[in-house]
Amino acid sequence: MLALAVFVSGRGSNLRAILESSKLKELVQVKVVVGDKLFCPAFDVAKNFSIPVYSVGNKEGFISFDDLRTIFEKLDINLIVLAGFLKMIPADFIKSFSNRIINIHPALLPSFGGSGMYGMNVHRAVFESSAQVSGASVHFVDESYDTGKIIAQKCVDISDVKSPEEIAERVLPVEHQLLANVIENIALGRVFVDNFRVRVEK
Ligand code: GRF
Repeated sequence: MLALAVFVSGRGSNLRAILESSKLKELVQVKVVVGDKLFCPAFDVAKNFSIPVYSVGNKEGFISFDDLRTIFEKLDINLIVLAGFLKMIPADFIKSFSNRIINIHPALLPSFGGSGMYGMNVHRAVFESSAQVSGASVHFVDESYDTGKIIAQKCVDISDVKSPEEIAERVLPVEHQLLANVIENIALGRVFVDNFRVRVEK
């Protein structure tokens, strides 16, 4: 069983997709959910599955990334999944989980990524660029926003959309599916990082 920590900031639909995925049931266990706020709707999703939640940050009532690392070491966390997590993670924390942190991004990287490119900002930029396809990307996390090696992507035709909201609606179910697929492949030991590329064995 792969021990997972899932980081969230919002409604938690990607978290729910992981928890409800039938193919992941035998392969992974979400041991902890971490947020950058004292409360967000994703915490309720975690609580419904009896998963402990932590708020990480510098303010009162939050735990530090150093304390979080200690908790993760005790829990033997194998993989960290950023599922709509908005806060920048400190470089030393990322280094201690090298190639063990993945992020879901609601567009086709390396376009439409980087600082400020989250949630509806992404879909608005995609809409205004007149791109005819969008999609979802799952990538390893490095020290800057959305630049880590891409593990998997899936395209969505958006040639007929009338609004950024419509793009978001089409991309979200693809995110859920893609993220579960990548976690499954990692759990089954099918994901390798070679020199420049990530290779997923079929
Ligand atoms: C998703 O679109 C995710 O890709 C993005 O933020 C959104 C989070 O949605 N970066 P949810 O909290 O998983 O419902």
